[in-house]
Amino acid sequence: MDAAWAGVDHYLESMCIGHDEVLEAVLHACDEAGLPRIAVSPLQGRLLSTLVTMGRARRVLEVGTLGGYSTICMARAVMDGGGGAENGGKVVTLELSELHARVARENFARAGVQGVIDLLVGPGTESMDKLIESGAEPFDFVFIDADKPSTPAYFERARKLTKQDSVIVVDNVVRDGHVVNATSDDASILGIRKFFEMAKGDPAISMTAVQTVGSKGYDGFAIAVVR
Ligand code: SAH
Ligand code: DHB
Ligand code: MG
Repeated sequence: MDAAWAGVDHYLESMCIGHDEVLEAVLHACDEAGLPRIAVSPLQGRLLSTLVTMGRARRVLEVGTLGGYSTICMARAVMDGGGGAENGGKVVTLELSELHARVARENFARAGVQGVIDLLVGPGTESMDKLIESGAEPFDFVFIDADKPSTPAYFERARKLTKQDSVIVVDNVVRDGHVVNATSDDASILGIRKFFEMAKGDPAISMTAVQTVGSKGYDGFAIAVVR
């Protein structure tokens, strides 16, 4: 099936997006720097920007920057929605790797979105704890996409950094279907399953999940709203 998925992804991308020279240059720079090819796909990036636009999100938090592909998708939506830096528009993105952060910074400048982005380098949990301790203004939209074993730790902190009507999106919650393996000892699967248990037990969370196929294979997103 993977060939059909990729072919349909290609068709849908050509119809929904077409060529985006900036994002293509961003991916090229990521390849040149030897970063892993694990950014969201173009259509998935457009899903993120669509959700940011629909929610009129001004303050976005991302855990896991890589080369900044998804960050740029969300930053453009914030800016196109009138959320320039002067209007409180902000995308805070958290990355562990100095190398990834360096590539991302260059890509933000390439895309002209650097004015709305704060890139914090360090372990995501520590950066989130600092945001919580400093009384950061709540975020309207959070995208969790870093190391999968830590997804529950990120979700727990994301809850403290959000408010009513905020949206929390979590990437890679299906993992070729392995998420249903209740006896898996894979730390990523354990992390995703623990995240689902936490969200299920949280009365303030209304959540759905979408299985996705396409150029990135078979995976999925969880999409949660804080009630
Ligand atoms: N959101 C990006 C892809 C992120 S890939 C996009 O779609 O374009 C996952 C990223 O999480 C990698 O860059 C990796 O270095 C980072 N990461 C891994 N462990 C981390 C940690 N403990 N804290 C913060 N980031 C981490
Ligand atoms: C991996 C990480 C991701 O965030 C993703 O979307 C796909 C793959 C990985 O670590 O393999
Ligand atoms: Mg991902």
